[in-house]
Amino acid sequence: MDTGTKISEVPDFGKKVVTVSGREILLVNVKGKIYAFENECPHQGSPLGAAVVKDSYISCPRHGYRFNLSDGHCDGHPDFVLATFPVQLSGDTILVDLG
Ligand code: FES
Repeated sequence: MDTGTKISEVPDFGKKVVTVSGREILLVNVKGKIYAFENECPHQGSPLGAAVVKDSYISCPRHGYRFNLSDGHCDGHPDFVLATFPVQLSGDTILVDLG
């Protein structure tokens, strides 16, 4: 599904929250690779718009749980997995598959 967002609108090591089909999706850009996540921490539901992005993980602003960018798993708290969505590009427009 079209996010209506171009890669250039998501800063490197930055984020952008978009709404797709009524769901808030967090887009993350790490060195030109785009990731898409549910904008809701699986721990206690914090929005992730203020999360910190590192090379391999995103850190929730509320309690600091770190979720792997590739599959959303959390090393320190394996019961909590951040929902991730496949990303495709159409030209420079970001598409996500919400399943
Ligand atoms: S709400 Fe995200 S780590 Fe607790």
